[in-house]
Amino acid sequence: MRSEHFYRTIEFNPIGDSRGDLISLEALNNVPFEIRRVYYIFNVPRSIPRGFHAHKTLRQLFVCMSGSCKVHLDNGLEKVEITLDSPRKGLVIESGVWRQMSDFSSDGVLMVLADQMYDEADYIRNYSEFLDYTRLNKR
Ligand code: TYD
Repeated sequence: MRSEHFYRTIEFNPIGDSRGDLISLEALNNVPFEIRRVYYIFNVPRSIPRGFHAHKTLRQLFVCMSGSCKVHLDNGLEKVEITLDSPRKGLVIESGVWRQMSDFSSDGVLMVLADQMYDEADYIRNYSEFLDYTRLNKR
């Protein structure tokens, strides 16, 4: 996987009128995979980072529905930090990417769309194992 392809941000186009804005997320349309699971993270103390894992095969789309948070991504070669602060902004994270989420605002709600059901066997929770895994998969 080339390093610039391990994540991608998407600006969703709201359908807006005087009643407000609406964004529709559709599998294989503006979401680049079939959606098998949706979860959301909220009530995160600002000083507490989360994540600290990678997924072997899972692909995800992050949208911060309310408030803001930061997402730190690392593919073993390159690190980036992305601020999610709008429900218009999506962040697609490919498999094999170490992630950390931090700096949640008190109203922060991070919604995650995923292409697979929850499976602890898909997680890599040890950073040195992650680096070994990325080397074995020859990025
Ligand atoms: P975890 O993925 O470690 O959270 P984060 O990456 O945000 O720090 O998940 C926290 C707990 O929730 C862990 O015990 C696994 C469980 N969990 C589920 O049962 N289903 C899910 O879909 C997810 C994402 C987590």
